[in-house]
Amino acid sequence: MAQSTSLTASAPYPKGSLTVKIFFYTALFYLLASMVLGLIVSLKAVNPDFLTGSRFFQEYFQYGRLRPVHVNTAAIGWMTTMFFGIVFYGVPVLCKTQLYSEKAGLFTAAYWNLNYIVGAGSILAGYQTGVEYGEMPLLFDIGVVICVALTFWNLFMTVVHRKERVLYVSLWYWIASIMFLAIVYIVGNIPAGWAGPGSAQMNYQYFYMHNIIGLWITPVGVGTLYYLLPKLTQRPIYSHKLSLIGFWTIAAFYVWNGPHHLVNGPIPFWLMKAGIIPSLLLLIPVWSVLANVIGTMKGVWYKVSQSVSLKFLMTGSLFYGLACIQGPFQALMGPHAILHFTYWTVGHAHMPLFAGFSLIQFSAFYYILPRIAYRHVYSRALMNWHYWLSVLGFVIFGFAMWTAGIIQGFEWMDGKQLGASFVEVMESLHIFLISRAVGGSMMFLGQIFFAWNVYKTVTAGQQVTADDEIFMKTS
Ligand code: HEM
Ligand code: HEM
Repeated sequence: MAQSTSLTASAPYPKGSLTVKIFFYTALFYLLASMVLGLIVSLKAVNPDFLTGSRFFQEYFQYGRLRPVHVNTAAIGWMTTMFFGIVFYGVPVLCKTQLYSEKAGLFTAAYWNLNYIVGAGSILAGYQTGVEYGEMPLLFDIGVVICVALTFWNLFMTVVHRKERVLYVSLWYWIASIMFLAIVYIVGNIPAGWAGPGSAQMNYQYFYMHNIIGLWITPVGVGTLYYLLPKLTQRPIYSHKLSLIGFWTIAAFYVWNGPHHLVNGPIPFWLMKAGIIPSLLLLIPVWSVLANVIGTMKGVWYKVSQSVSLKFLMTGSLFYGLACIQGPFQALMGPHAILHFTYWTVGHAHMPLFAGFSLIQFSAFYYILPRIAYRHVYSRALMNWHYWLSVLGFVIFGFAMWTAGIIQGFEWMDGKQLGASFVEVMESLHIFLISRAVGGSMMFLGQIFFAWNVYKTVTAGQQVTADDEIFMKTS
């Protein structure tokens, strides 16, 4: 039996964990930065004169620059960096081996962060491509692709040299999603520029935008859900077969969904239908995941009240499911005609990205942190504050946007798009924009508690000992 000694004092960190730490801590920085930027953007929507006091602010803090930096810092800075940290931790653990190359991992982490910070800075400086979610100039797109390729190679080689024969389902999702990310990023950012103006370019744009969500964030997030669920419940996944059905149907159906962003737009009618039908078919992979969650949780729901990480995981799964009920509905031609171009879509976007997959990432952060920092999470109370502020803040944000979107859509249908009537529409939306800023402030405050808890864990958390439950039962 191992002695009850401090692990930090007695054992070296496993190979790969410095890479994981860099990804985790920088992801946390991007999370806070994206929230501040989101808040500034939301305050500018409430009061357009906010932060326009000098030429500097007028130029660098204008809506058209801050908005894409917010979106990039949230989706690429926070979510993608964090997912890299999770897979760099999870792949070696599931393969019962070490990361294939720690040096390559460290290089990837350093290059990734440098590339992102300078790339985001260049958007602020006014250099952007106009490709939504891919606004960084070409040089930085190439940097992203190099880092993704290095990550794929490093993790693939780890799988090749694994000591565990069985490939657990998370490995399928994770390795495939990194490969998809490279393909989607190249297609969306590089040949898109050659497609010329007009609807051909929009098709590239939405292939990219939809699939960065559908073939990257979704499968890497579902892989994370499948990784955490058995760990946090101490039960095997309900059905391995169901998880593989989910995997293959995500791979088969997601890729066709780009045109559902262009319903009623300047594309052929058959192409719209080709985007709407797979939107409905997506219910198959989504429900395969949720059925597996419900099946695994049968008889152990009481554990949700005992573990804050599990609470994050279950709430994240719930919002992911809700977003995927909302999605097929808004892809239909009727609802789309009302809701497109409105705040509804902004509410929809934040539901799976923040309330869905970010909550799943918070769960992963709390689960993995003690295993790489060798310290117990500092405060359960702070975890609970983080949870409640995030969830309640999002509920206010989301309902404000959905209500505003419906009002906006119907008012536009009444012809109130121009001149004084446009101002009337904006006035009727004002209260919802204020509510969004209030909800967003709560979400931001939640992340301050999170960051403080992480800081205190790393600096003053109780040290994990070799016979601690968390190491005996899991890793
Ligand atoms: C069955 C699942 C889903 C379907 C059918 C679906 C459908 C849609 C549709 C039709 C739109 C366009 C709305 C418009 O512009 O009028 C949209 C937007 C969006 N969706 Fe989903 N969605 C689904 C799930 C998800 C998930 C899981 C995520 C995130 C991981 C997501 C993230 C987004 C984002 C970010 C946008 C905004 C895009 C923009 O900036 O215009 N969706 N979705
Ligand atoms: C991890 C958390 C977050 C993620 C992943 C995220 C993601 C996104 C995405 C994808 C969009 C584009 C939506 C679209 O075009 O339909 C967006 C826009 C926006 N987000 Fe966030 N966001 C996050 C947190 C926040 C927070 C805390 C606020 C604070 C209020 C916020 C405020 C905004 C605003 C104001 C916009 C612009 C929408 C508009 O033009 O009206 N976001 N965000």
